[in-house]
Amino acid sequence: MLVPPLSTGIFAYMNYRVPRTRKEIFETLIKGLQRLEYRGYDSAGVAIDGNNNEVKERHIQLVKKRGNVKALMKNFTVKPHFGIAHTRWATHGVPNAVNSHPQRSDKGNEFVVIHNGIITNYKDLRKFLESKGYEFESETDTETIAKLIKYVFDNRETEDITFSTLVERVIQQLEGAFALVFKSIHYPGEAVATRRGSPLLIGVRSKYKLSTEQIPILYRTRKFLEKDLNRAGGSGAGRFLLSRLDSSTCLHAVGDKAVEFFFASDASAIIEHTNRVIFLEDDDIAAVADGKLSIHRVKRSASDDPSRAIQTLQMELQQIMKGNFSAFMQKEIFEQPESVFNTMRGRVNFETNTVLLGGLKDHLKEIRRCRRLIVIGCGTSYHAAVATRQVLEELTELPVMVELASDFLDRNTPVFRDDVCFFISQSGETADTLLALRYCKDRGALTVGVTNTVGSSISRETDCGVHINAGPEIGVASTKVVISCMGRSQQSFISLVMFGLMMSEDRISLQNRRREIIHGLQSLPGLIKEVLSLDEKIHDLALELYTQRSLLVMGRGYNYATCLEGALKIKEITYMHSEGILAGELKHGPLALIDKQMPVIMVIMKDPCFAKCQNALQQVTARQGRPIILCSRDDTESSKFAYKTIELPHTVDCLQGILSVIPLQLLSFHLAVLRGYDVCLKSGNVN
Ligand code: F6R
Repeated sequence: MLVPPLSTGIFAYMNYRVPRTRKEIFETLIKGLQRLEYRGYDSAGVAIDGNNNEVKERHIQLVKKRGNVKALMKNFTVKPHFGIAHTRWATHGVPNAVNSHPQRSDKGNEFVVIHNGIITNYKDLRKFLESKGYEFESETDTETIAKLIKYVFDNRETEDITFSTLVERVIQQLEGAFALVFKSIHYPGEAVATRRGSPLLIGVRSKYKLSTEQIPILYRTRKFLEKDLNRAGGSGAGRFLLSRLDSSTCLHAVGDKAVEFFFASDASAIIEHTNRVIFLEDDDIAAVADGKLSIHRVKRSASDDPSRAIQTLQMELQQIMKGNFSAFMQKEIFEQPESVFNTMRGRVNFETNTVLLGGLKDHLKEIRRCRRLIVIGCGTSYHAAVATRQVLEELTELPVMVELASDFLDRNTPVFRDDVCFFISQSGETADTLLALRYCKDRGALTVGVTNTVGSSISRETDCGVHINAGPEIGVASTKVVISCMGRSQQSFISLVMFGLMMSEDRISLQNRRREIIHGLQSLPGLIKEVLSLDEKIHDLALELYTQRSLLVMGRGYNYATCLEGALKIKEITYMHSEGILAGELKHGPLALIDKQMPVIMVIMKDPCFAKCQNALQQVTARQGRPIILCSRDDTESSKFAYKTIELPHTVDCLQGILSVIPLQLLSFHLAVLRGYDVCLKSGNVN
């Protein structure tokens, strides 16, 4: 299954008629990468024009390093015209300079490319290119792209082939997911960028009026396309559309005035330069030449938008800064009282006990009539689905399936027209979730997105949805948003609860329960603050645990998802083995792991599973386990058997998971710091 890494970061900068010193341009590139650091990476690189831009002596200078972005700055003095930069999270090949991006076509750096994503057919391509005499130097999938474009260039049939035509031919051979930005000595001052399954956007800045707010999409004419397809190896005229590439089909500053373009995988790298951006769609090929941006696609389909609009980003730079906290992760954990409230703002009316989700209201009737709900996501987002399944079943009175997107696809799960499928994804770009969405759409189900990213693929492709209002995606705990996932999964959780409340508005028998939950939602921000005040105690616990090799987290009912989520965070941030165990399964195997050495965290809350959790506690202590118990403040029973307790405030059973996961978030943060990991750079997640 396709799982491109999201922790990699793309940033590229072009200044057209905007005088910039080499130093300024280099600093812009480095700053762009620094804005992407929170996503996690293990190496970084930059490609810029060499010192002499005269045609005969054109060359591209590459600077690549293992480690952090600052390492790139050493001994660097060049002045580029178009520069590309990248932070990498190793997937194919260890983190080192050779495997870092930009990857190059040859020792002369004729073509260089930066890539987010994974090319799944890279082995075949590599074999083919090696058979043609191209020598590889790295272990990456990306290098095949750099070599492939050179192959297409070396085998061109005319001298006037355009840079974007080369890229178009390259991506027709690629399988997998990618966001790519290319640079070449053969096309000085030109940039080409494209994507499929990985996000990419272009920022534009100019003091002058821009030629258009809507960039029309150009298509290769049928005639030339056919000609091209008939040619083996994909080489062709490349003359397509040339006549149409005039000022009216491009974005530029009127009067051929100064303009700058910023290419990035994430808006946070662009926002300090401009808030005017264009989101590329899958298979768009964007090219900048002579200060003009054009976008073309190979094939036209009926559902294609005829243009790409310039959009205005609303996020502020300070939203993406980490403030007084030592790491984004910590900031996001501590911002949860506000972020949880933001998700409810304007939607839950605590006076009338009503909930209105604007994006769903027109579809409620259809949803109420459906056969079942299927809630699909990956990682942390999947855990939000597990956490809310029970309350959704209760409030909607519908069968609810929760699915890991990759497994759902592997099984070719039957989906019907009268199913309603929810896709939970903070980024809105996770490849498996997106593929699952397309799968359900093809089968006629109503699709609902729960995402944080307006304009993301999932929010665009679903029929309707809920925006979790989480602000910019910073601090992904795993790779995407290592840290931000801390708060974001809570917000997906709340969004699903709000959906359940909205569905049950007319059910007389559920009114008391609804009131209880809405009241619980209202008091959540205050209770979260109370849990956060336990930070010091949790730090002390981390001091005891950080040298351990493994950590089990056990619970059941509403708190099973807490265990899964806590264990995931511990794994990905601290590199410590951790497992979330359903307490009901303890006697079916996992009990064998329990002894006095193995640290076990048990989540035991005053809810319908309390008595059953007590049984599990007995089993753990019978094997001399020393449980650290997350329990309610008034729980005198569990504490008798605890090695340690972390006492939490009580809330409505179905919302308790929002509170009980916070000590595990704090614990994973402290464990990571104590184990010597840089939580800013940490992240293991994949898109
Ligand atoms: C965990 C984490 C991942 C993501 C998963 C889905 O910290 O970041 O498990 O939750 O990759 O990502 P989204 O929600 O963006 O679809």
